Amino acid sequence: MAIELTPLPLPASADASKFADFGREVKGVHPGTLTPEQFIEIQDALYKHDALLFRDITLTPEQQYALTKAFDPQSESYGHGNNKTQGTKQSILHPDLKTIPRQPQVQLIGNGTVYNHEGLAEAKLKHPNHTTFHKTHVSDEDAAKGATRFYRWHIDAALYDLAPPKVTTLYGITVPGGPEQICRYDDGTGDELTVPLGTTAFVSGKTMFDILPADLKSLAVRSKVRYAPHPYVWMAPSHALPTGLGIESEGLELPYSELPAWEESKLETLPILWKNPVTGNLHFQVHPCGVAELLVDPLPAGAKREGALYPDGAHLKDLKQVREIIYKMQRPAIAPELVYPHDWREKDLVLFHNRGVLHSVVGSFSKDQVRAFHQCNLAASDVPVGPSEEDVKLWA
Ligand SMILES: [Fe+2]
Repeated sequence: MAIELTPLPLPASADASKFADFGREVKGVHPGTLTPEQFIEIQDALYKHDALLFRDITLTPEQQYALTKAFDPQSESYGHGNNKTQGTKQSILHPDLKTIPRQPQVQLIGNGTVYNHEGLAEAKLKHPNHTTFHKTHVSDEDAAKGATRFYRWHIDAALYDLAPPKVTTLYGITVPGGPEQICRYDDGTGDELTVPLGTTAFVSGKTMFDILPADLKSLAVRSKVRYAPHPYVWMAPSHALPTGLGIESEGLELPYSELPAWEESKLETLPILWKNPVTGNLHFQVHPCGVAELLVDPLPAGAKREGALYPDGAHLKDLKQVREIIYKMQRPAIAPELVYPHDWREKDLVLFHNRGVLHSVVGSFSKDQVRAFHQCNLAASDVPVGPSEEDVKLWA
């Protein structure tokens, strides 16, 4: 049977014209038993469409790891390394994230208590919720009526020492049903989005770049961001914006001197735009919470200076200013009509191009709503490729 690709079902909120290439459901093949030829087709489809959905799939942790690794055969360790801060047993991301003992690159994530699961006698899981991360949150009264927020827009990446994974696989095992929720932006725009309970929301990094005005395209194509050392530890005391798209500048980040030991050479300085290895498109890939500095190259010879931002280049270190610039460039792309909120069914497997999209956990569950997912991504064997000289000439 040939591999069949069909468009993902879009919600009524989505602007279909912006999703023509984004996302495909894959039929006619089992992702756990791909032949090398089938894998090449799937890999090609992933980079062309950024998210692939397989429905009604039974997949072991071993198969999920093998599938994830196939996209980067030299990769081996989980995207966050051992996922622990130095000297403590606590996860830097989710205190309740659990590793599958016999396949430690695969993580059990979700909500509620899961028993006798793949060698784990009892796993207490907690779905990350905006109330523990945002500076403000929806009132209890509104939450009871289904109001919620995006938790944190991000790329799956350690952003220190380890290269951002190419692909993340998410496999829904137990998916609780429940009413839709209203995801509020609470940023003065009135934007909101109706979402399925416990959705994973995706936006395209390609669209994020494509919809920018010329001056910001020029800035993006010439810029790199430098992430803080141990960015998740650094940002831990701080609070997020109501859109989940970055941090409020309140000066709450840990001083660098109080972070676990770090080395200059392990800091990550990555281009804002990452080049898609198959299509050549540029994707705006910035994890806004971890950004510390912005490095702008001067305009290339012959480029028009009029109206250009930082025509002679710049190295911006003022955290508030850096965050405001990044936010201005990223916020348009999380508009409700540009978000794909996946409506999870049990036995769904979603593969996403982690170097081509941003995503966010959304919503909240009650304690008794049990959700169990397997997640896998692997620290990559190479770093993302930025814009080519031609790209810079074209957009600067
Ligand atoms: Fe993630």
